[in-house]
Amino acid sequence: LVTGRTAESPLLNQYRGSRDSAGTPAAPHRRPVWFMRQAGRSLPEYRRLREGTSMLDACLDPEMASEITMQPVRRHDVDAAIFFSDIVIPLRLAGIDVEIVPNVGPVLGTPVRSRVGVEALPVLDDDAFAPITEAVGRTVEQLGATPLIGFAGAPFTLAAYMVEGRPSRDHLGPRTMMHADPDTWHALASWAADVSGRFMRAQLEAGASAAQLFDSWAGSLGRTDYAAHVQEHSAAALSHVSGLGAPLVHFGTGTGEILDLMREAGADVIGIDYRVQLDEATRRLGPQTPLQGNIDPALLDADWPVLEEHVRQVITSGSEAAGHVLNLGHGVPPTANPEVLTRVVELIHSVEPSTPSA
Ligand code: CP3
Repeated sequence: LVTGRTAESPLLNQYRGSRDSAGTPAAPHRRPVWFMRQAGRSLPEYRRLREGTSMLDACLDPEMASEITMQPVRRHDVDAAIFFSDIVIPLRLAGIDVEIVPNVGPVLGTPVRSRVGVEALPVLDDDAFAPITEAVGRTVEQLGATPLIGFAGAPFTLAAYMVEGRPSRDHLGPRTMMHADPDTWHALASWAADVSGRFMRAQLEAGASAAQLFDSWAGSLGRTDYAAHVQEHSAAALSHVSGLGAPLVHFGTGTGEILDLMREAGADVIGIDYRVQLDEATRRLGPQTPLQGNIDPALLDADWPVLEEHVRQVITSGSEAAGHVLNLGHGVPPTANPEVLTRVVELIHSVEPSTPSA
């Protein structure tokens, strides 16, 4: 694992909740920020490069994936790159028939809805990660001191696509399976945890400095279901990478009721969506947990003074946590104006570090 290169990274310092001996947060050189979905459709240079190549083929072309990962770093001067890939890549690498249909999302040829379907799932070979390892290696070389964040989909979110076969609003398929056929659910979620955990591990071993587990749809679960049917599988995914010394971020949307359970699954940093204020998240998680978030993507289209005021509030609200990395409360919308994103980064970098009160 490469750690020396990014030892001075303000982002990694915040993820580690760096505190001096007096227990006050160490002042960052600059306040770190990156954006979920910073690589992608909001950028004209991305749309040009992707022309004629399908989403998953682009992810598996190391040169293209690496170039797309670099684009937002050059343009916005963000403090981290997020590896350009997708949560369904491990499925494709295992040989499952999956496509990303434009303006729809992941679609599977054969949804997995029965015990027989789970037992027929292929074994994912470690050699299959070669295009990922190569793309990460190329990217880390170009990034220099800027850290690369790897990621994977959490077992519930991945299994939700596998059961439904396509995006859904309420995730009834997987939520029903948990209760109607718990053994099949646990077998499916275990399979998903294994491929997601190994996908993250491949990225970290190839040079990524941190990893984020996306449980985008976990907000459709109540606490009881999350605790009984999901948490252990997210913990299993994270356990593949917990010994590597890299900070691990856990993010979902609508997860205000389960933030503590998501941390207990084994994450160092909790990503907060736009629904929960960061100071409230600190009340729920305690001041030791570094946070990431949570500029509301809807405000990217508001008048600048409105957006600026919101960004300043997010900074203030995050100051009670052991560490804070600015991000959006969900991904960059495809319609976002990239110039606004650059201006948000400049604003965040210009706000003076608050002097810690004794
Ligand atoms: O900049 C980045 O964040 C890096 C790359 C990244 C992508 N997907 C690229 C992508 C990451 C981290 C993801 C994760 C991902 N993929 C999640 C978790 C994050 C989240 O948004 O909640 C989920 C749920 C997926 C599954 C998925 N892939 C969806 C729902 C979609 C959108 C479909 C659509 O067209 O509206 C995708 C496609 C996708 N993944 C795109 C990108 C850039 C757009 C495809 C394109 O450009 O043609």
